[in-house]
Amino acid sequence: MESWLTQLSEEHPPTLASQGPIALGTAARMPEQQFSVRARVSEALSWRRGAILTLASVDCFPAATQFCRHCDLDGLTAEKNRAIAGKCSELAVPSVTSYTAASDAAIFVIPSHRKHLIMSLKVSINGQLFDKEDAKISVYDHGLLYGDGVFEGMRSYSGRVFKLDEHLDRLYESAQAIGLRIPIDKPTMAEQVRSTLEVNQLSDAYIRLVVTRGSGSLGLDPNRCSHPQVIIITDHISLYPPERYRDGMEIVTASTMRNHAAALSPRIKSLNYLNNILAKMEGLRAGCDEALMLNHKGEVAECTGDNIFIVKHGMLLTPPTDAGILEGITRNTVIELAAAEGIPFAEKTLVRHDVYVADECFLTGSAAEVISVTKVDNRTIGDGKPGKITLQLSEAFKRLVHGK
Ligand SMILES: Cc1ncc(COP(=O)(O)O)c(C=O)c1O
Repeated sequence: MESWLTQLSEEHPPTLASQGPIALGTAARMPEQQFSVRARVSEALSWRRGAILTLASVDCFPAATQFCRHCDLDGLTAEKNRAIAGKCSELAVPSVTSYTAASDAAIFVIPSHRKHLIMSLKVSINGQLFDKEDAKISVYDHGLLYGDGVFEGMRSYSGRVFKLDEHLDRLYESAQAIGLRIPIDKPTMAEQVRSTLEVNQLSDAYIRLVVTRGSGSLGLDPNRCSHPQVIIITDHISLYPPERYRDGMEIVTASTMRNHAAALSPRIKSLNYLNNILAKMEGLRAGCDEALMLNHKGEVAECTGDNIFIVKHGMLLTPPTDAGILEGITRNTVIELAAAEGIPFAEKTLVRHDVYVADECFLTGSAAEVISVTKVDNRTIGDGKPGKITLQLSEAFKRLVHGK
């Protein structure tokens, strides 16, 4: 709620009156005193009869300074509230803080071009768009029953999907590896990704592409699944708070071993992420957002959703793909950036000791981008701050994704 308000007010100076009132959105205070944005006025109204509603009109909303006084709208319909919202011009609640303290719920009238902030995101399933709440597939889908399917996680920056071709190549390769025929070709998939982003008016977004085996019987036999489901979800993303990027993060080694490549290759980005989830749980239990996973030989593989790099004596090092890792697209990008920046690089088998005594350490992933690691298993890495080469590569990465 707070960030939604901030977003709206930061992006829009108070000139919205000219756009005209088009959409109604609500932010309702829930019984447990938390705020959440609601797409429908009726939800706020049905929350509690006799609730004090605060109405905000289009032209005063962005600065969040002018709200009409607590209209007691017990039992009124959404239509009547809307009419009141249109007329009301009282300026009473001076700030978001006092508004939240004074009201049980609020109705905001916002212009159509900001509608996506309160409207349901659209999800594409097999090329058809559904409201997020209505985007559903069968409970007989083997993606759900067995984690039988593949996926990709990517980002768009200023409306451009970063490394889309590479992600699609990996998706189709993962599908090929599990004998799953994706029912559309890559250009069609790319087009659907772009149009889903567009319809949701997202430019800096996270994109989740999922292809399931499809609906089948309760048995394992994938041949009984006739129609793979192609799902494209686009949403806002913020993985870690800014201070994590500024100060670096702490990770621990998980006792859960990375899948043996001969059992289920980590190069397949499959819907079966239990291996990673089990390790992630260990990390979270230790108070860390990420966990380091070792392969069956005890060598460093990767983290639960990121690849790992270290820097030693000016040399950038990362485990090779045969350490049993996902060949990360951000990993490959960083390797290319290192070459361009003149940073010596090698793929090298690493053990935990190498990480402990590294000068620098960082992780890469489409969601996390480039993030420094300053503590591993309670050992401070380097001087405990994000290192010089890490920062150099992180800056180069930012320039690249933003097309500079
Ligand atoms: C296990 C694992 N390793 C590494 C990565 C990083 O890959 P990429 O840079 O392609 O996002 C991911 C990202 O999803 C992952 O799940």
